[in-house]
Amino acid sequence: MKPISRRASQISPSPTLALDAKAKAMQAQGLDVISFAVGEPDFNTPEHIGQAGIDAIKQNFTRYTPAAGIPDLKQAVCQRLKTDFGQEYEPNQIVVSNGAKHSLYNSFTALIDEGDEVILPTPCWVSYTEQIKLLGGVPVFVEAKEENGFVMTAAQFEAAITPKSKVLMLNSPSNPTGGVYTAENLKGIADLCVKHGIYVIADEIYASLLYDGLKFVSITEFGDEIKDLTIVVNGVSKSYAMTGWRIGYTASTVELAKIMGDIQSHMTSNAGNISQKAAVMALNGPQDSIEAMRVEFEKRRNYMVEKVNSIPGLSCNNPGGAFYVFANITNFFGKTIRGIKINNGTDLCNVILEEAKVAVVPGIAFEAEGFMRFSYANSMENIIEGLNRVEALLKEAV
Ligand SMILES: Cc1ncc(COP(=O)(O)O)c(C=O)c1O
Repeated sequence: MKPISRRASQISPSPTLALDAKAKAMQAQGLDVISFAVGEPDFNTPEHIGQAGIDAIKQNFTRYTPAAGIPDLKQAVCQRLKTDFGQEYEPNQIVVSNGAKHSLYNSFTALIDEGDEVILPTPCWVSYTEQIKLLGGVPVFVEAKEENGFVMTAAQFEAAITPKSKVLMLNSPSNPTGGVYTAENLKGIADLCVKHGIYVIADEIYASLLYDGLKFVSITEFGDEIKDLTIVVNGVSKSYAMTGWRIGYTASTVELAKIMGDIQSHMTSNAGNISQKAAVMALNGPQDSIEAMRVEFEKRRNYMVEKVNSIPGLSCNNPGGAFYVFANITNFFGKTIRGIKINNGTDLCNVILEEAKVAVVPGIAFEAEGFMRFSYANSMENIIEGLNRVEALLKEAV
């Protein structure tokens, strides 16, 4: 038999989904597992949004739509981007896709040729690396340091640029660290992109989840040149608790939007009609549910950060956004817990899952050994109980 595709065989499964699946399988066996593994709001989709989906079915809105999205959704995206973030786009610059993950893949497909380098600050979200590799691109990792709030400095970026650099993959607020780029930092990075003609894919999916009064800053704010080099990726999954509806979108130049729309027309055609109508309601309807969720997340973050830092051997930054805490676990390396030697983050996460029945993702999944990611997209009750269990187990480390 001839081998399957070289690129395809390099792909690893999503470690976060795998871990969550393991936790769910343990739950199905009747074990009381608390999962901090998945990046999904625990809130329900607000009712008026669900109702818009039901109405779409009742009205038989069930046929193909334009591949890049229905006009009223593109219009709603433009309106939201302008009102919330001051970003000016026209509907022909918007492509609606099956989740932000799909928008990212469209963006990489539009920009990457074999051998092109994509600068990727780490720790980074799991799918970027695999999507880049699948397209024949070369991820170039730049370590965003814990002491810098897990954001890449302009100097680090400059040092990573080569003649093959094509794209910078930027994610602020970040999954997995919650790190947020400051305006000053972004300006320095934007200037370098313009100087070297490097495109930016700006994953802004957590833009509405910021804490401590922080205001969202997009790299597109620093002039038309950087805006034209940037594909903004966003969606309704995180802000409106709509992960399963699968609606994401890009905002870019007309030229790039046309190319991505054409790509999508051959890959998936339009995102689901019902979901598109629900997303119109999400974006145009009342926005108070976002603030209610944000306030609740901020409370949970405050609790989690304080608790993690109170556990001997564990420490973490105070993340400015998203819903993750990225804890430093290096103090446990070389120690033993219940007879199990901890050599790395995967060992520690395995022992926490097996012995404390708490699912946490090892940093290596995000190209960052020495850390583990807790998601606080879980109830306060579960956060308290889960962290108590982790604390009790880690106290046994010798
Ligand atoms: C940074 C980041 N980008 C994109 C996505 C994908 O979002 P969607 O569910 O809309 O595909 C996620 C989801 O976990 C994410 O954390």
